[in-house]
Amino acid sequence: MDTPAKEIVLSGIRATGNLHLGNYYGALRKFVSIQNDYDCNFFIADLHALTTAPDPQSLHANVRNVLAEYLAAGIDPEKATIFIQSDIPEISEMYLLLNMHVGVGELMRTASFKDKARKALGLTAPTSAQDDSDEAFERQIIGAETNKRVNAGLLTYPTLMAVDILIQKATKVPVGKDQLQHLELTRRFARRFNSFYGVDFFPEPTDFDFGGAPVKVPGLDGSGKMGKSEGNCLYLIDDPKVLRKKVMRATTDEGPKEPNSPMSEPVANLFTLLELTSTPEVVKHFRDAYADCSIRYGDLKKQLAEDILAVTTPIRERVNDILADDQYLRRVVRQGAEKARARAAETLREVRQIMGLRGI
Ligand code: TRP
Repeated sequence: MDTPAKEIVLSGIRATGNLHLGNYYGALRKFVSIQNDYDCNFFIADLHALTTAPDPQSLHANVRNVLAEYLAAGIDPEKATIFIQSDIPEISEMYLLLNMHVGVGELMRTASFKDKARKALGLTAPTSAQDDSDEAFERQIIGAETNKRVNAGLLTYPTLMAVDILIQKATKVPVGKDQLQHLELTRRFARRFNSFYGVDFFPEPTDFDFGGAPVKVPGLDGSGKMGKSEGNCLYLIDDPKVLRKKVMRATTDEGPKEPNSPMSEPVANLFTLLELTSTPEVVKHFRDAYADCSIRYGDLKKQLAEDILAVTTPIRERVNDILADDQYLRRVVRQGAEKARARAAETLREVRQIMGLRGI
């Protein structure tokens, strides 16, 4: 008997910079943990990166960096399909086709679009719920009296993401919280396509459920999560000196004044990082020290920096080796593109048929 086909998993990371500890715990490490059991497809979203107009050299460098970081973190090209989005021209064609079934309004109401569009126009986020109404936002976008513009690629970002997923007929998509709305749109577009043409063609993808609470990796600046745009990142390739310095400068507070005081957010964040990277004994030691007011944040930070380095150092060393081996990098993406293209071409061929694009 045939073994049942493995479920198709797909996820991508935008090529906008080096990967950080948040990417590692939130994505890379999880990708590695499922690559034996699923038909995994991990790609580098360079077309998506174009929505924020990077200069060509840094875009190219970032594609290489993310690829090397995927490999260094343990994604195995013999197990998972690793590819570069723009190596699959079928994605761009299907993006045009799917856009015919996507509404401008629903794209404009997407949270990530509002966010990025405001940034592009140099507008600040609204302070009251009223200012955040869709009408107010549309007036701003359409009527913006400025020489800045919001490119249409930013608007259709969710279409492109839906195509990434649907063209591979992926059913499980590991994404962070900030991408769930895009995944919801993907499901909606799949349903709409199926019902418009009366076909049962696209499966509706869902978020990959890793079980347990989602991993939140905080930044070092006292509040919020670690993120590229927040400028509070510990990068996997930070060298030890840089990384130690960043950790030693992390925001804290004046220290607990009474036994068992509640923790401020900056200090709680340091403990969250410690929990991710240290042993339970180390965590307990510092928790006890906090509880009885004997804690010295400098000691905590020193320990934290060393424990983070124990995670990142092997990755950093591998990244450097991998980046030096162009032939290997090329081989990986050629092999990945071949597999991803075969499936994409098959889906696109059928989509063209279904839509009536069948020549004469
Ligand atoms: N939009 C995702 C992000 O910013 C990246 C991405 C692009 C993606 N296409 C995808 C993720 C398809 C999952 C599936 O992180």
